[in-house]
Amino acid sequence: MAIHYSYPSLLIKQLFDRGTCTYTYLLINSKTQEAAIIDPVKEQFNRDVKMIEELGVELIYTIETHVHADHSTSSGMLRQNTGAQIVFAHVADIQAIDIRIKDGDELALGDYVIKAISTPGHTSGCMSYYVDGMVFTGDALFIRGCGRTDFQHGDSAMLYDSITQKLFSLPDETRVYPCHDYNGRAESTIGEEKQWNPRIGQGNSKEKFIAIMDNLNLAIPKKINEAIPANTSCGINFNPQYYVHEDFSMDDLYKVWRENNADELIVDNRTPEEFAEGHIPRCKNIPLGTEDQYIEELTQYKRVYIYCRSGRRAQTALTNLSIMGLENLICISHSGLPNWIDAGYQINTPQ
Ligand SMILES: [Fe+2]
Repeated sequence: MAIHYSYPSLLIKQLFDRGTCTYTYLLINSKTQEAAIIDPVKEQFNRDVKMIEELGVELIYTIETHVHADHSTSSGMLRQNTGAQIVFAHVADIQAIDIRIKDGDELALGDYVIKAISTPGHTSGCMSYYVDGMVFTGDALFIRGCGRTDFQHGDSAMLYDSITQKLFSLPDETRVYPCHDYNGRAESTIGEEKQWNPRIGQGNSKEKFIAIMDNLNLAIPKKINEAIPANTSCGINFNPQYYVHEDFSMDDLYKVWRENNADELIVDNRTPEEFAEGHIPRCKNIPLGTEDQYIEELTQYKRVYIYCRSGRRAQTALTNLSIMGLENLICISHSGLPNWIDAGYQINTPQ
């Protein structure tokens, strides 16, 4: 059940991936229960989906600040699981996204507005996002630091301009939330960074900033060769449209069931208790979360059709199985057993 807060506000959940020191932010409009997630990490997909479900919020957007080199995004999986739209800067030139955002564009989260601020320099397609006195700076501005500029079309002079002309023109009290922190700090303010950022604070010149950036001598990120290709396809290596058939109804499933082909399998992924109360004849019960035990068996089929009650669990199973490498799946989203029963099709019930 959704948690309802007694006063309307924008809530921020700051989430951390220890492996890559990445911050993910879940923004919730507590009045409308709409949410956006910024820079979700693939390894934390289950944590984030669980939180979204527990809080009972509807994920509207999954927003990327840039193409990350150190970790893979879960945006594609989140879209598949929740229907959220993927937001990426248009100049990042990423395929299979829903909203190509430009400098100054706005995203509505209920009555809050998330405004895109183009802040290139760490990469050529970096975007920061401002909402309600907070700015999510990606890898442009860190707490007492900034993103590196030595790959992905990085440009120190451009980053200097982005920070000093765009971010530092925000009010001093604006709270700063970066994509990473390696020293245990969670947030800062524009005023603090203007004063104390050792690379760019206290009016440091562009020349001095470039000299600092040129001499960082950082190691190349360990995951760069897998992360950049993965992130340019939103962290997924399949075409989600091939798998999620939103128009695939229980009537279509009935045709599959009637043909009864040996190389096709219908899976019910509700709990064993729900399954026992009634299910489509000849289908197999694979309760959500147990998919890994059935991989070998499921690969034998040309097509596997997954249904549940409303379609939501079937979509989650499809994501789980896709990650495990299955390519023969069709998930019946937006409908389920009640629709089958309403259409008058037969079910197996306890004797
Ligand atoms: Fe980055």
